[in-house]
Amino acid sequence: MDVIEQIARLWPRNGKAVALTGAGISVASGIPDFRSPGGLWSRYDPMRVATADALDDNPAAVWDFLMDAVRVMDAASPNPAHLALARLEREGLLEAVVTQNIDGLHQRAGSLSVVEFHGSMASYHCNTCKEPFPAAQASGITPATAPWRCDCGGVVRPDIVFFGEAIPLDALNKSGQLASGAELLLIAGTSCEVAPANALPAVCNRTGGKVVEINVQSSRMAHLCDAVASGKAEELLPRLADMLLGTRNHTAR
Ligand code: APR
Repeated sequence: MDVIEQIARLWPRNGKAVALTGAGISVASGIPDFRSPGGLWSRYDPMRVATADALDDNPAAVWDFLMDAVRVMDAASPNPAHLALARLEREGLLEAVVTQNIDGLHQRAGSLSVVEFHGSMASYHCNTCKEPFPAAQASGITPATAPWRCDCGGVVRPDIVFFGEAIPLDALNKSGQLASGAELLLIAGTSCEVAPANALPAVCNRTGGKVVEINVQSSRMAHLCDAVASGKAEELLPRLADMLLGTRNHTAR
């Protein structure tokens, strides 16, 4: 029996399944992940461009990174992996997605219950006076106008969680409840290198749930898994959805 069939057999039919996703699920949408060869952290030093201190000490470097991120995300669309998870939710086989991604692609694919563990690029605010700003303005920031500054002089930044910043409390609480209540947690497209998101598989495991994984490289939490499928989420998730929904066609609807 192949591993996707194994995962399908483990999948609860009462919908008490939760997906924990990471950057790997958006690679097929043209957004590089962080830690694969050629990933973002091989091109940028996260300590220079993705920490709370960097925003204060080196806003120009942070905005160089953000302009790159805005460009690839503006050009991205949901891929069959996002669409398959939205389909499982629609059919009552997935309760929610907890995503570490900030690209909004799960929602654009039709997922309704999405916990954005690391925030999102869908809105911005001034790092000093907290004035909110619309994301649309970010697409207009160029090397000539970066870093984006508020009238108060503060740096405008997206509503994402930089290294060293707290996870939004509602996201932390909601994802903890989902993981502890789930009968199965699917790890998809994440290395599980980063805390506290990487604690969720153990929360599900400790409360009696199964943990399964679909990843190109196995994650740091693979040892907790009842099944580990090595492969691309955009290929394996539609296959899993077809198996669970008893449909043959692989075209994600
Ligand atoms: N299908 C499935 N898995 C994939 C694919 C794919 N097409 N492409 C890559 N992967 C896997 C990689 O093998 C890796 O295990 O996705 C994982 C991506 O891991 P990371 O690059 O570490 O991304 P992620 O786990 O989301 O990082 C977590 O770290 O830098 C911070 O805030 C950032 O949210 C991010 C967090």
